[in-house]
Amino acid sequence: MKKVDVVLGLQWGDEGKGKVVDVLTPNYDVIARFQGGPNAGHSLHFGGEKFVLHTVPSGIFRDGSMNIIGNGVVIDPVILAEEIAQIEASGVDVVSRMKISKRAHLILPTHRALDAASEAAKGKTKIGSTLKGIGPAYMDKTGRNGLRVGDILLPDFEARYNALKEKHLFQLRQYDYQVDVTAYEKEWFAGVESLKRFEFVDSEILVNNYLKNDTTILAEGAQGSLLDVDFGTYPFVTSSNTLCAGVCTGLGVAPTRIGEVYGIFKAYCTRVGSGPFPTELFDATGETLRQVGNEFGATTGRPRRCGWLDLVALKYAVMMNGVTGLIMMKSDILNDFDTIKVAVGYEVNGEKVDYFPYEADDNIVPVYREFEGWNCDICNVRDFDQFPQQFKDYVAFIEAECGVPVKIISVGPDREETIVR
Ligand code: GDP
Ligand code: IMO
Ligand code: MG
Repeated sequence: MKKVDVVLGLQWGDEGKGKVVDVLTPNYDVIARFQGGPNAGHSLHFGGEKFVLHTVPSGIFRDGSMNIIGNGVVIDPVILAEEIAQIEASGVDVVSRMKISKRAHLILPTHRALDAASEAAKGKTKIGSTLKGIGPAYMDKTGRNGLRVGDILLPDFEARYNALKEKHLFQLRQYDYQVDVTAYEKEWFAGVESLKRFEFVDSEILVNNYLKNDTTILAEGAQGSLLDVDFGTYPFVTSSNTLCAGVCTGLGVAPTRIGEVYGIFKAYCTRVGSGPFPTELFDATGETLRQVGNEFGATTGRPRRCGWLDLVALKYAVMMNGVTGLIMMKSDILNDFDTIKVAVGYEVNGEKVDYFPYEADDNIVPVYREFEGWNCDICNVRDFDQFPQQFKDYVAFIEAECGVPVKIISVGPDREETIVR
């Protein structure tokens, strides 16, 4: 019996999960998304082309792999249909390569409106949501009001839709939020219709049968560990469990069936949206990271906040996920730095702290350790031995601190720009 291997983000998202899943897909028969929704933007580069996936698993471009949208995912049929059309336009037969869980929840047009209304009402304390309706859709899931993919095939689907919509319109009136969803609604029902081309499955049964039959599965996370609804920088988080535990609930696999857990991090750190970010840089160095790293959101285009690598936060994420192998991304972005800093501790209200505190707030002062930069182009390195000594020292320090080996290093966005140790 096989186990499910997992790829997930250890920071605030956008670590490069899409690229890594695409790179690892040839080693797996099945790729499965287990949480999140179209708030995700996973970029893939190959053959001189770039694709951004939001709901579709990042294994979709590889021949011979099956892709599953798991029960833990929330789906906007408009966004998913657009995404599928784009992939199909590139010649991929998506219908034969992807199945959708009947238990995945649907994001309604009014969920998007509620997201916008909630953010507007929060004013300065807004979360900086992607406004894709993620929070309201998961609220209806846990509130036991949601519509699921399996409901699409019920004769009274439209009546159920209307009943939930009415509830939402009532809530929107409480917010005093004016919105006309008619146009989006039309697209939404067209999207729902086009989803009927896909097989709706009991993905938990399918996944467990795959494991029984020695079929290999890679679970693809969205967002990052510090955006987890329980352990992230609450309330500035997303509304799902982004941690490894989310694989169990989002695909229906037992904890004992989790295999390798690949934790992805950038060689520095970014965050998009509001909330604490202890190592954030507000100076020219932060701006350099943003420009060189092209740190602008794949889903919203928003500039990402940038800063140094935070080992306190990284170790917290490694612990919570049971990471067995680290994957360091965007190493090339640090090519031209004389000095590279890494946070190895915090000072909170004058006291030294070596863990990620509940009160993660503006009161954290990072304690840095400085490293000599490698000051050369590492984009063409394909063998670990070829890396400059300063780079090897940087990697060795991270491994020692986290107690987990760095198994893959990425030195550029393309599939080929990857070193597997
Ligand atoms: P995801 O959400 O975790 O899949 O990450 P995103 O796709 O949102 O953001 C990662 C960005 O970095 C994308 O534009 C990738 O193409 C790019 N990228 C990934 N790995 C590397 C790398 O090693 N070097 C560089 N320069 N870019 C990378
Ligand atoms: P991927 O999978 C980075 C952030 C938003 C906001 C907070 C809540 O591409 O790494 P939501 O739309 O979920 O209500 O937003 O979470 N966020 C992400 N940041 N990458 C993502 O996904 C994100 N998905 C949500 O910016 O701060
Ligand atoms: Mg992203």
